[in-house]
Formats: sequence, C-alpha cells, structure tokens
Amino acid sequence: MTESGSDSRRANRQAVPECGMMKAIVNVNRDWAIGRNGDLLVYIPEDMKYFRKTTAGAVVVMGRKTLESFPGGRPLKNRVNIVLTRDESRIPETSKEAADAYLSLPTADEFLQLMKRRADALTAGEDPGTVLITVPSETALTELLGQTGQSDRTGFPDVYVIGGASIYKKLLPYCDTCLVTINDYRQEQGREADSWFPDLDAMAEWERTEEGEMQEHEGIHFSFCTYRRKQNI
Ligand SMILES: NC(=O)c1ccc[n+]([C@@H]2O[C@H](COP(=O)([O-])OP(=O)(O)OC[C@H]3O[C@@H](n4cnc5c(N)ncnc54)[C@H](OP(=O)(O)O)[C@@H]3O)[C@@H](O)[C@H]2O)c1
Repeated sequence: MTESGSDSRRANRQAVPECGMMKAIVNVNRDWAIGRNGDLLVYIPEDMKYFRKTTAGAVVVMGRKTLESFPGGRPLKNRVNIVLTRDESRIPETSKEAADAYLSLPTADEFLQLMKRRADALTAGEDPGTVLITVPSETALTELLGQTGQSDRTGFPDVYVIGGASIYKKLLPYCDTCLVTINDYRQEQGREADSWFPDLDAMAEWERTEEGEMQEHEGIHFSFCTYRRKQNI
C-alpha cells in the first residue's frame, strides 16, 4: 500500500514534535549569508537594537560557537541562554561565571521551577537574572521544551533560535516564525561568507508575510521581514 501525498505530509509533520515551539531571528544578506570567520557579516545598530528588544526576557537557543562570538563569551543578559554543545567542557569558565545561574542539562522539573521563579521576579518588577544552560543535543532541547509545553504555558516566554548556521538548520523544523532582517551587503573578494541560513524563499512551506520599509546604515540597505510556516503544507 502506498501513502497518498497528504498522508505522507501528515506523517512528516508528526515526526516533528512540537513544531512551532520556537521562532528564529536572524540577519541575512540577499544570498542568505549570515557570517564569516565566526563573526557576523555586517553590524547594523538598528538591527542590534531590534534583536535586544525582541529577545529581552526570553529564552534564547544557540550553538557553542555563537556563545563564543559574544563579547567576552558572556551569555545575553537577563535571558535564559540555552547552548547546544556535545562537549560541555568547551564552555569557558568565564561564560559560566558571567551568568547568575549555570545548569548542565536540567531536568524538566528544575527547568520549570527556574522559569516559574523568573516569571515571579518579572511580576514583582525584579531583574530575572541571566541563566546559562547547556544541552547535549537538539533532542534533549526539544524534550526539555516539549515537557514544558505539556504543562500550563501561560506566561512562558518566547523561545528564539539565535544561531549560528548549524543550529538554525537543525532547529528550523521546530520553528513556525522567522524574523529575518534582510540586507543588501555584497560580499567582497577574499572576504566571502562561510555561514548561511536556509533559503526560505526556496522552501514551499515558508512564506514572507511582512516586509518592513527599507532603511539604510552606512550604505547598506535593510528591512525587517517576517516569514511564517504555511498551515496546509
Ligand atoms: N547573522 C546572524 O543573525 C547570525 C546569528 C548567529 C550566528 N551567526 C554566525 O554564525 C556563525 C557560527 O555558526 P556555526 O554553525 O559555525 O556555529 P554555531 O551553530 O553557533 O555552533 C556550532 C556548535 O554548536 C554545537 N552543536 C551544533 N549542533 C549540535 C547538536 N545537534 N547537538 C549538540 N551540539 C551541537 C557544537 O558545539 P561543540 O563543538 O561544543 O560540540 C558546534 O560546534 C558565525 O559566523 C556567527 O557570527 C550569524
């Protein structure tokens, strides 16, 4: 017996647990390039501001190399920073010390309690603090977030995938929204990109639903766009 197209699409969708539990946020050029030599391709102050504002107080998920690319390797302030690494000893002590709390693969209970304490702190108008968590695989991550999703999710902050290339690629199936800042930076010879985001324009399941007005910084034009996963694919 062969599966019909829609059956096989349903089966594929079922193989993706908790699709939609995360959003990606990324800055790309028109070729979907995002980085070079462990650094961003371009720095656009307005985009940095947008990133900080959007992810304030949220859970941010990143690869170990992206954590390393932050100033001093410090996790992002007042957020829950979840870092994927297959070798936790690669996380520098200075990164751990810069956090108010450091947890290596917490249980679902520990994670829920932590999130509850943060929600209480925010309600009381207090600083929720900076948390660094390491997880050894995307399965461990999705299990942690998935179990969280089974309990009352009211008040649970958004979860943003913030890079880099390997993590965007692995976690895109779990995202339903991508906040994409598109810029027209042209790569120069000898300074070509080495990291890319998946080309959403070439993927039938994604559509660009919002496109902000064109802005400019030092000759680079950019706009804030939103892509959403189509419902019936
Ligand atoms: N334009 C943007 O918006 C943006 C945003 C973020 C990053 N970037 C750029 O992206 C580039 C970095 O991307 P990248 O792909 O090289 O590095 P990355 O994704 O930040 O980190 C890669 C590391 O993550 C860990 N990892 C990856 N997949 C894993 C898995 N399935 N399970 C457990 N751990 C896993 C591994 O760490 P271990 O080696 O420790 O095991 C791996 O070496 C840089 O140039 C950065 O500037 C751009």
